[in-house]
Amino acid sequence: EITKEFTQGLPKAELHVHIEGTLEPELKLKLAKRNHVNIGQSTIEEVRQSYQYDDLASFLAVYYPAMNVLQTEQDFYDLAMDYLHRAVKNNVRHVEIFFDPQAHMSRGISFKTVIDGLYKATVDARALNIDARLIMCFLRDFSRDSARETLEEALNYKDKILGVGLDSDEHNNPPMKFFNQFTKASAEGFHLTAHADIDQKDSIEHIRELLEVIGVERVDHGTNVVEDPDLVNFAAKNKIGFTSCPLSNSFVSPEMKGKEVLELLKKGVKVSIHSDDPAYFGGYIGDNYYAIATKFNLTRDQVITLARNSFETSWISDEQKALYL
Ligand code: ADE
Ligand code: ZN
Repeated sequence: EITKEFTQGLPKAELHVHIEGTLEPELKLKLAKRNHVNIGQSTIEEVRQSYQYDDLASFLAVYYPAMNVLQTEQDFYDLAMDYLHRAVKNNVRHVEIFFDPQAHMSRGISFKTVIDGLYKATVDARALNIDARLIMCFLRDFSRDSARETLEEALNYKDKILGVGLDSDEHNNPPMKFFNQFTKASAEGFHLTAHADIDQKDSIEHIRELLEVIGVERVDHGTNVVEDPDLVNFAAKNKIGFTSCPLSNSFVSPEMKGKEVLELLKKGVKVSIHSDDPAYFGGYIGDNYYAIATKFNLTRDQVITLARNSFETSWISDEQKALYL
């Protein structure tokens, strides 16, 4: 019943996409050549063959080294524009794009280079009829000091950054490690979100810290919340957004957390569907809707509710929201 045309054409907001995870093999090779960076692969087939992972850590071990090809402001601009063209084809009307400044600063690229390139792309996106914003993520496997320095840098670009997030390796890196930086970011007017990757060692405890102590507005992935009825109630009552990414999940969990997404929908929790790292997990946002809709026999109404939830839990203004809802 649900077709690819339907899931691709459905108007949607994309709230969980890492710009570094949109680096397609073609652009990776082009930038490697342009910047004289040896990535150890020289054909698209070789790049694709290097994409072997079955958990978060093994994925990140492939993902971070590849970022070496991103060197100049133009590179970040090209990366983001490539993604934005794909988003437009998926009828994404509004996108909040994650970026990882520490993954670039730690290899000698300035914050300014990264943000100038990405921000210019978000300005040019207006001509494509897509509203694009940026969310800066802290790398949770880096130190608190590094997060503090990164937030200080970000304050110089406050008008260009909509919110802060938290990503990378969750193992033994609980949200509370960054309590001070989240508090400071919130006081500075940034929106807050954070990853709680699926089936982590302390998933429920991490989600509890995010919802009850730090006070995030969304949780990225976070579908393990279904295991705790109190937290489910809290999330429903407070309209917390959960950004599930079926194709990303399918590398770790064959059922791609479809049952959990349905359960959350049933309980009135604002769960929605996104692409995470589409160049690495085999599909853009329309493909992610299609994957879960066909595997779990979703109705049209359920698919539409997922898309509505994406606008409702986005950080666009209420006036803007009214246009979509
Ligand atoms: N960085 C890029 N994708 C991520 C994910 N799914 N979880 C944690 N960090 C990430
Ligand atoms: Zn993610």
